[in-house]
This record gives sequence, C-alpha cells and structure tokens, in this order.
Amino acid sequence: MNKLFGKTIVVAGATGGIGEGVTKLLLQHGAKVVALSRNEEKLEQLRAYLSGVDTGNLITLKENLDQDQAGSREVSDRLKEQFGHFDGAIVTIGNWGAANRSLIDVSDELWEQAVQDNLTSHFRTLRTLVPLLKKDGALIHLSGLSADTPYPGAGIIGLTNAAKKSLVLTMAAEQGSIGPRIYELMIGPIRTRERVTRGIARSNWYDPEDLGVFMSELIQGDTEASQKPLHYMVQRGG
Ligand SMILES: NC(=O)c1ccc[n+]([C@@H]2O[C@H](COP(=O)([O-])OP(=O)(O)OC[C@H]3O[C@@H](n4cnc5c(N)ncnc54)[C@H](OP(=O)(O)O)[C@@H]3O)[C@@H](O)[C@H]2O)c1
Repeated sequence: MNKLFGKTIVVAGATGGIGEGVTKLLLQHGAKVVALSRNEEKLEQLRAYLSGVDTGNLITLKENLDQDQAGSREVSDRLKEQFGHFDGAIVTIGNWGAANRSLIDVSDELWEQAVQDNLTSHFRTLRTLVPLLKKDGALIHLSGLSADTPYPGAGIIGLTNAAKKSLVLTMAAEQGSIGPRIYELMIGPIRTRERVTRGIARSNWYDPEDLGVFMSELIQGDTEASQKPLHYMVQRGG
C-alpha cells in the first residue's frame, strides 16, 4: 500500500469529484499530496472527507493556477520554495458550467467562458506545473472521450477536450527525453461520490480511485504503459 511513500504529488482540482477520489488513493499509497483549490471552504470539506485516511500526508493549499504568465511565475516560485520539485502532478480541473447545449445555441459569452474554463486554464496550469516537476517526474492530465466522438448537446466541451488532447500530447513530445513524462488520460463517465449519492452512477463506470491506481503506476514509471503518453479508461471491461 505504500507504493508512493517518499513521493510528493501536487493535485490541481483536488476538490472536484474526481480530484477528491484520486487524492484519497494517493494518500492510501503513502504519498505526500499537495491538494490545490481556489476555494478555502472546499479545501475544508476535502480535509473532512479525507480525515479517516491515516496514511500519507495531506497538505491543502489555496492557490489559483489559472493565471497570466507573470502570475504563473509567482505561483511557481511560491510552490518551489515550499515543496521543491514534485515527483508527480495531476491535473483534474474543468468546469462544464452552462456549456451543455447544442452548438447553434452557444452565445459568444458562453463560448469565451467555456474555452477559458476548459482549455485556457489547463494550458496555464501545465505552464506552471511542468517546470516544477523533477526530470524523472510525471504529469497526468485528464480529458473526456468527447475529444474523439461527437456528443450532441455538449459540443463545446468536446472541442475543448480535443484541443486539450493536442495540448498535452504536444507538451509530451516537446518534453521528450529531456523533461518529465507527460500523460494524457482520456476518460469516460466516472462514478463520482456525488453521482453515487444521486443514484445516477453506473456499475461499469470507473471510480475516481481506479483512475488514482493507474496514475500511481504512471508516476512510478516502471510499467509498459508508462512508456506511452496517451491512455484510455473508458469503462470497466471495455
Ligand atoms: N466526472 C466525469 O465523469 C468526467 C468525465 C470526462 C471528463 N471529465 C473531466 O475531468 C475533469 C474533472 O472532472 P470532475 O467531475 O472532477 O469536475 P468537478 O467536480 O467540477 O471538479 C473540477 C475542479 O476543477 C477546479 N476548477 C474548475 N475551473 C478551474 C479553473 N479555471 N482553474 C483552476 N481550477 C478550476 C475546481 O476546483 P476549485 O473550485 O476548488 O478551485 C473543481 O473542484 C474536468 O475537466 C471534466 O470535464 C470528467
């Protein structure tokens, strides 16, 4: 259970439905986890949710990685001073907001907001976190399957997913053998705690903790999968 003992991993989006489960799994594997959020109240809820986990070390930090270049540098300097270089980084941010409507009904305002929340913020987060990784470290970014397959009614999310896939794979190629390993993990619907509570989670969907197990293997870097930048976790048994 202590596969990640001695490793420090930063999670952007740790308060989210996926982020909280991934954070839990990383702690269960013995990691020191730096859980980031823009919102102190959500961090407090995260601490309460994870209070029963007695392995690993949880550090919660109010920090916004969605910043312009100067702001990114300030955050980066702050994190480096406090934690040094990270062994791993998980990026599980995003905001659907009101984006689920047919493309023909997307206003300019909604377009700008959706691209900001589901693409620009991801670019800015990667720009901040990649230089903070150890050379043998790893960053894992999540995107949804609608990158590859049309989801009528959620087109704006699909097109940002496709752009994020390109962003992360390009970043992986640019880092190549000189920098940290960069992974894009394409996922289907996930059994988040909120969906389970509402009774709308299906049994063949992955739990957030399942994603955490795979991410933990990628960070350790000693499996065949860790040699490839692109991965899919669509549904159990499929
Ligand atoms: N859940 C699924 O079934 C599923 C399936 C496919 C893809 N995905 C993708 O996976 C990602 C995470 O999903 P989720 O269900 O965990 O979402 P979620 O519950 O809404 O959590 C996302 C987290 O991202 C952070 N965030 C949102 N906008 C941000 C911004 N501009 N800058 C920095 N942080 C921001 C928020 O944290 P704070 O407000 O605390 O800062 C929030 O807690 C999303 O990109 C989603 O589209 C999810």
